[in-house]
Amino acid sequence: MSPSQRIAVAGGTGHIGLHIVESLLSLSPTVPFLHIIVLSRSIKPEKSKITFAGSSAPIIAVDYNDTSGIESILREHNIDTVISALYGDADVFDIAQQNLLTAALNVPTIRRFAPSELSIDSETADSVTMYYLKKRPILQRLREIQAARSGPGIPSFEYTKFVTGLVMNYLASGNPKSSGEDAHGHMFAHKVIFDFENGTAEIPGDGQALFWMSRIQDMGEFIAHATQLDVWPEQMDLVGDMRSMNEIRALAEAILGKKLDVTYLSEEELQLRLGPNPSSLTNVVAEVMISFARGEVKRSETYAGLKDIVKPVGLEQFLRTWWS
Ligand SMILES: NC(=O)c1ccc[n+]([C@@H]2O[C@H](COP(=O)([O-])OP(=O)(O)OC[C@H]3O[C@@H](n4cnc5c(N)ncnc54)[C@H](OP(=O)(O)O)[C@@H]3O)[C@@H](O)[C@H]2O)c1
Repeated sequence: MSPSQRIAVAGGTGHIGLHIVESLLSLSPTVPFLHIIVLSRSIKPEKSKITFAGSSAPIIAVDYNDTSGIESILREHNIDTVISALYGDADVFDIAQQNLLTAALNVPTIRRFAPSELSIDSETADSVTMYYLKKRPILQRLREIQAARSGPGIPSFEYTKFVTGLVMNYLASGNPKSSGEDAHGHMFAHKVIFDFENGTAEIPGDGQALFWMSRIQDMGEFIAHATQLDVWPEQMDLVGDMRSMNEIRALAEAILGKKLDVTYLSEEELQLRLGPNPSSLTNVVAEVMISFARGEVKRSETYAGLKDIVKPVGLEQFLRTWWS
């Protein structure tokens, strides 16, 4: 296989997707013939393309229920790689991604597909029922397609699962810096587990569980560079940092210069937080905390094939930037 050259990013207007697109555009000056398109359900007249670092990617309208329409666009642009950064309500998310894959498989130039993972590993996070279980069927299908297209004389096909941990930028929510909004990149501020602004933390379990996190900007860069690898493994992990909740507490207390008021939450207490809307952010966060408490996050390291190319910011540097 060879590096990706003609890449479609579905959901490239989104929180994480936009970082992926910008990082890909940053590669344009050094990667000849790189062509990026962004798939979106709607185009605003004033925003028909994404421009970054002197390069642009057109935003092209798609209907995720119309596979032949998506196929035509991928054909027209001779796309070889599809990266999904889709999200949306839990019940439509899998359908949209599966339709995207169905369309891609009909396009002869397509040889790579990355589904929308971009978090803790959906295949170990059994407790995140609303969203992450919805990420599993497409992975199963991708494995079957890859196996079916691995024989001699058959155009080969690769997929990869980008596992990045949670967005580290959440840990800058409420920071006191005048440029504090910049901490979030294209993500919104949201306090997860730690509320450094108010000096509190709600830690799942006994605090021994691992918290895996990466900066959203590093996620974009990692994925962009991954497109330039000759071979895609089935999983590529990015580990900005990974430490126990208690270790994070100690690090934060040292940087903030004050003790945090910490509540340890049992699984039963976290279950009580689940509300009636399965797609709500409250529910997803509560389920992710239960997943942490159950030890479903496994220790990992940044994918060896990229660790000398992408140097993610670690937690200490990140916290010092925004809290000291
Ligand atoms: N690691 C973490 O902490 C973390 C945090 C958040 C999300 N994530 C993961 O990252 C991925 C992307 O999340 P995100 O927050 O970046 O997503 P997002 O910005 O909420 O949505 C991404 C894009 O999906 C498209 N979309 C929204 N609803 C849709 C629907 N019903 N049907 C089809 N497309 C729809 C939208 O694009 P258009 O409107 O342009 O079509 C949107 O820009 C997901 O897999 C999510 O689980 C991880």
